[in-house]
Amino acid sequence: TLPTEWQNFFSEFPKAELHCHLLGTTSRETFIDLVRDSGAPVSMEEIEGFYTRGEKPVGVLRIFRALEAHILRKPEYLKRIAIEHMACVSKQGVRYIEFFWNWTGLKHFMTFEAAQRAICEGLREGEARYGVIGRLVPSIDREATPEDAVELVSEMIAHREPESIGLGIDYRETNHEPENFWKAYFMARDAGFHITAHAGEFGEHWRNVETAIDLLKCERIDHGYTIIDNPELVQHAKLLNMPFAVVPTNSYYLRTFTDEEWAQKHPIRRMHEMGLKLFPNSDDPTMHHIRISESWYLMFNFLGFTLADLRAMVENSIDAAWVTDAEKAEWK
Ligand code: HPA
Ligand code: ZN
Repeated sequence: TLPTEWQNFFSEFPKAELHCHLLGTTSRETFIDLVRDSGAPVSMEEIEGFYTRGEKPVGVLRIFRALEAHILRKPEYLKRIAIEHMACVSKQGVRYIEFFWNWTGLKHFMTFEAAQRAICEGLREGEARYGVIGRLVPSIDREATPEDAVELVSEMIAHREPESIGLGIDYRETNHEPENFWKAYFMARDAGFHITAHAGEFGEHWRNVETAIDLLKCERIDHGYTIIDNPELVQHAKLLNMPFAVVPTNSYYLRTFTDEEWAQKHPIRRMHEMGLKLFPNSDDPTMHHIRISESWYLMFNFLGFTLADLRAMVENSIDAAWVTDAEKAEWK
């Protein structure tokens, strides 16, 4: 554990969080409340299991599916989760946060319009109360169909909210290639939405990172670790000044590395050494048992980045944030 003044340091410097899934910020207490309120058939034992195991990414996706299938019956629940997380990160130096959120798995409970309106109300309320700017990035559920993705983007275009600014894609990457979703991406880009994609997270190949950059034309990549296996693609990403929203607690390498190897060979270190532009994020903080300030601390204490590196990463996260140049100038 770090001395208190270091812990304070990592909580206090201003930062942006750009890779964080709304459902993955649900606190245990709120989860229990929502199960009670919705009458969902989920036992206390299951909930305890969700929160005590220190879930790996695939396990987290199981929790998301339980939330989507049984628990998140009302748009106001989503609003509550957003506000609570903004309160939480406001104490960790976060000035700007973007939430990923999937509608496809919730459409049996609510319309896109009602859900998005509730979340955006939450973002406005969170900003008013806690001074954190909140934005929403509706995200394609890649385990669903390309037609579902097109439906999502059609809804985004039909029901625009000022806080809802971009499109992402998440859930299991294995056998769910990004090119399947080209049409939804092209529609979103044509309509003026920003775009990003989870790619190179699950460890098969660098091809999905290449597809996300060159076919989908992403402005940012979430994770991206497999890029280290292709130096030419690294060069290409550098020429594009492509930002990578990485997550020190979530990488397929974590499943195979020992602790010592972790610090030496972690793909985030390799990505940095190869000259890529990156910054740390929390992904699913309550479910990975990590606070955003601790993600920054891990970069320093386990992955060996210097304070000068972290200073540059703060700049990277601001550059990668989907805000106007005027807003950026004000923060820097
Ligand atoms: N990977 C992909 N999709 C996700 C994740 C993740 O770690 N967490 C929430 N959705
Ligand atoms: Zn993620």
